[in-house]
Amino acid sequence: MELLRDTRRMTGISCVVCLLTLSYIHTLTEADTEASCVVLKSCILPCSFQGGAEVVVHWFQGTGKTPVHSYYHNQDQLARQDQRFRGRTSLFKDQISRGNASLQLTGVEVQDRGRYNCHTSTISGNKDSFINLKVDAPVAEVDIQKVENRITCSSEGIYPEPELTWSTSPPSSVTFKNTTTVRETEQQLYNISGSLILSDSGTDVAYSCNISTRRNKRRATLRHPPPIIASSTDTTIPCSVSDTSLMVFSLVWRFNHSQIILNQAGANVSHSVSEEWRQQVKGVSESGGLMLQDLSWKQEGMYTCELSNPEETYVTNTFLRIEKVSRTGVTGIIVAVVVGVIVVVLLTGLILYCKSKRRGTRPEMVL
Ligand SMILES: *[C@@H]1O[C@H](CO)[C@@H](O)[C@H](O)[C@H]1NC(C)=O
Ligand SMILES: *[C@@H]1O[C@H](CO)[C@@H](O)[C@H](O)[C@H]1NC(C)=O
Ligand SMILES: *[C@@H]1O[C@H](CO)[C@@H](O)[C@H](O)[C@H]1NC(C)=O
Ligand SMILES: *[C@@H]1O[C@H](CO)[C@@H](O)[C@H](O)[C@H]1NC(C)=O
Ligand SMILES: *[C@@H]1O[C@H](CO)[C@@H](O)[C@H](O)[C@H]1NC(C)=O
Ligand SMILES: *[C@@H]1O[C@H](CO)[C@@H](O)[C@H](O)[C@H]1NC(C)=O
Repeated sequence: MELLRDTRRMTGISCVVCLLTLSYIHTLTEADTEASCVVLKSCILPCSFQGGAEVVVHWFQGTGKTPVHSYYHNQDQLARQDQRFRGRTSLFKDQISRGNASLQLTGVEVQDRGRYNCHTSTISGNKDSFINLKVDAPVAEVDIQKVENRITCSSEGIYPEPELTWSTSPPSSVTFKNTTTVRETEQQLYNISGSLILSDSGTDVAYSCNISTRRNKRRATLRHPPPIIASSTDTTIPCSVSDTSLMVFSLVWRFNHSQIILNQAGANVSHSVSEEWRQQVKGVSESGGLMLQDLSWKQEGMYTCELSNPEETYVTNTFLRIEKVSRTGVTGIIVAVVVGVIVVVLLTGLILYCKSKRRGTRPEMVL
């Protein structure tokens, strides 16, 4: 009996503790407003209060005692401001009297993340609000390239820590030797880089690298179709992307991994061709293919097509071999030179022959 009552009492106590904890957690979560910012951009930390006379506003980060921003006597009071926030904070002055104490923060850094306290006071009372600031640095660009039998994929300035995964199309059961390196920068951002060693680079497989973080993900795909052999002075190098919705975004064609041939910023936007390629570029096909003309051996090399939209980048490296064009060209020149030389020799011979013949015949005619 005694034991039973004891157990009951204990259950009762733990229930009260449990309820207290729950309500405490509840008030905590209820009090915190969530705000989300992107690194280097600006954002607003919301805070409102019952407006009134003699407004005092203090913003603090975490448990810090140094204000992020202060306002009283109808003006900003920044003498004691935390130096990390110098020149990056402002209030909406015209709205303070109406109860808006929201803080605008510019040039957001990863270090700005965390809990903020907005303390306001007027003659009618005080108020403390808590704002939880989440900071993200989304994956911006993913660079993918192949050197010999190694494909590398990388991206920089990401927060929180990103993940990198590989896939192939068509799906391959082969497990590749892959390594991923993540480095943290001084700004607490992450640089990520992964590489894949191919055992057989002969087949036409598309390799995709997927980099993801809390806010977004981006995928970069690399393809190496078989070389194209140009047997006339005109040819079209396809961009080899089946998904034409990608054409709504940007297209770049490069030569030998460096020289830019042309750029197109969107589907209905006209492309711009670089000066050196004006003569060779005839246009861009609907699916992004590069239409070339007036080809000579100088245009033999690697053509890279890069199509991107906000989620994906497709890189296709196609080698263009100039075959008959260059050969007929060279043979043509040789034939022309040979024919020219023969003609000159024959003409000279003929003239000399005629002259000597005339010299020899003249006296006869006189006779
Ligand atoms: C305060 O004013 C700014 C600027 O007009 C506005 O963007 C923000 O939503 C306002 N915040 C509140 C809590 O009223
Ligand atoms: C990459 O390596 C990890 C372990 O190191 C492995 O689990 C994964 O399957 C590999 N990915 C591919 C595509 O081979
Ligand atoms: C991260 O990438 C940036 C941009 O390329 C570079 O300047 C920086 O040195 C890199 N940081 C680390 C720690 O690798
Ligand atoms: C990329 O990786 C993320 C997380 O690992 C996953 O959720 C997503 O489905 C992947 N996307 C693709 C296209 O593979
Ligand atoms: C591009 O133009 C075509 C017709 O000229 C139109 O149907 C299409 O909606 C346009 N696309 C964009 C993205 O503006
Ligand atoms: C382009 O690359 C190919 C193959 O590497 C090379 O033969 C050619 O000379 C390069 N052309 C130019 C203009 O650099």
